[in-house]
Amino acid sequence: MSPIDRISAYADELTALRRDLHAHPEIGFEEVRTAGIVADLLEGFGIEVHRGIGGTGVVGLLKGRTDSGRRIGLRADMDALPIEEETNLPYRSTVPGKMHACGHDGHTTMLVGAARYLAETRDFDGTAVFVFQPAEEGLGGARAMLADGLFERFPCDEIYGLHNQPNGPHGMIKLRAGPVMAAADFFDIRIKGRGIHAAQPHRGIDPIVVATALAQGLQSIVSRNADPLKSIVLSITQIHAGAAYNVIPDTAHMAGTIRTFDRDLRDLAGARIRELAKGFAAAYGAEIEVDIQDRFSVLENAPEQTAAAIATATELLGSDNVDPNASPKMGSEDFADMAMAVPGAYAWIAGSPGAGLHNPGYDFDDTIIPIGSAFLARLVERRAAA
Ligand code: NI
Repeated sequence: MSPIDRISAYADELTALRRDLHAHPEIGFEEVRTAGIVADLLEGFGIEVHRGIGGTGVVGLLKGRTDSGRRIGLRADMDALPIEEETNLPYRSTVPGKMHACGHDGHTTMLVGAARYLAETRDFDGTAVFVFQPAEEGLGGARAMLADGLFERFPCDEIYGLHNQPNGPHGMIKLRAGPVMAAADFFDIRIKGRGIHAAQPHRGIDPIVVATALAQGLQSIVSRNADPLKSIVLSITQIHAGAAYNVIPDTAHMAGTIRTFDRDLRDLAGARIRELAKGFAAAYGAEIEVDIQDRFSVLENAPEQTAAAIATATELLGSDNVDPNASPKMGSEDFADMAMAVPGAYAWIAGSPGAGLHNPGYDFDDTIIPIGSAFLARLVERRAAA
């Protein structure tokens, strides 16, 4: 029987799990309930479970009927986002200001579905390593698991990850070899001017004028400093200053993100932010502090594991439902750090078109659960073939 058919037989249970997780979202490193449910389910399948890896992470180990020594890792993320859900779904978030708006409830469920299938069939020769990761959304959950000895304690020869995309065609698996998601640095810029009555600007130093000028100036990094043939995004996503109509404030705070695929360009962008801040500080007589934090590495799909993932998806879905040349994205994904530690591949699975990821109207498409579960399970069966 095809793994999709076998998993479809308990799709209702998986959908119920997904909707329960959706109704009870937990943000990064707070996934106590979610991790507990996952760990209990895995134990119920007869899988050896390790809790509390990298905070709230869970690792499951399952041996096939025989053990060649091959160890295949499968990873899902568990965290929600600090977003107020704006849907009328019967299973909408019950937690104010928190929402599964990136489908990590679905990713967790798909990996649980794969684990159940593999535990029931055990038709492989080696070990399946199920990695349920906390805090993917910019809080460093993958790095926390790695720092907690993930691959020393639970060695993997290779690892695979899967992320949904609510843009169709329904059920299509998309990926490509090489760099697929960008590195991301997050930055804060703190400007100290000198506050004064709004009617007497000549006696103060207006940090809002400095901030808006610097915000414009930073775009010259993209348009004038970066090699036009290399991709870079610099977005200012926050500007905070002031609290009154008639007061020029003392300080302003800007924050944002830089995304690149290239180490040299990433370093150049950071250096230019600091140089421009220094120059603008001198020009306006303000003080400017810059703090740049490395949050995400470039996610690079290894050639052999990508080819294996494409072959697996094609076997399950037919070549019409596999896109082996998916476009890279400027978004980021902390699976990148796991894929730097062991060779890996990361694929996207398309749900029916709907509200986008990180949108308050988003919902995961439950009808792709058996497909995603089967893809992950079949990777183990093929890469540690009995
Ligand atoms: Ni996500």
